[in-house]
Amino acid sequence: MTTLRTPGLVALLLAAAMGAGCTASAADTPTPAATRPAAPPAAKPAAPMSHMAGGMMGADTRAAVPLTAMMAAHQKSQMRDHLRVIQEISVALAKDDYAAIAASAGRIGWSTQQAAMCKHMGAGAPGFAELGEAFHHTADTIVAAAKARDRAAVTTALGATLATCVGCHDAYRQEIVDDAAFAKLGGDTSCPMMGH
Ligand code: HEC
Repeated sequence: MTTLRTPGLVALLLAAAMGAGCTASAADTPTPAATRPAAPPAAKPAAPMSHMAGGMMGADTRAAVPLTAMMAAHQKSQMRDHLRVIQEISVALAKDDYAAIAASAGRIGWSTQQAAMCKHMGAGAPGFAELGEAFHHTADTIVAAAKARDRAAVTTALGATLATCVGCHDAYRQEIVDDAAFAKLGGDTSCPMMGH
């Protein structure tokens, strides 16, 4: 097994790389990322630097969403379907196929099950479930616009929905925890919805 024999050096190199690679943000925020308090998600502006939030250099200041490994995998597969929905809507919009738009958008629309899922996933992340529900409600406006066969309204609703995707991704990241840690956060690890 290969192990890093010089973790101190690696850390130093990483720190140097961060300083060199994130010139603008480093100049604005001299505090090391690790000691910087996580900004409350709600107060986070749609910053022009938000492409840095993904942490190319490891400086990921987004709030953690603690999830068990199984829940995290489930959330990611849901996310990939969310993206597929957006793809389907784009294709359908080009063909003015409003029935297809409404059907696809309906997959991400609000429902009591979706709301329960958001709450379940966000048990250890204050504000997460609210953002999730706002996302599903916004997706409902795509369905309504499609039913009205209103192309401009569909594109506006699609943009508003994508803004909720971007906003949540800017604010939160997954963090894998074990069942005991999740239960301690007030989460229910025996959620029946996780069975499929
Ligand atoms: C309420 C929060 C929230 C909303 C809304 C949201 N996502 Fe996500 N999404 C996440 C989180 C958290 C992750 C995990 C990111 C991480 O850990 O870096 C994620 C990851 C993803 C991924 C990566 C999946 C993978 O397999 O790695 C995709 C794709 C994605 N989201 C698409 C979307 C799209 C498209 C929308 C809107 C239509 C959306 N998401 C809305 C929270 C959200």
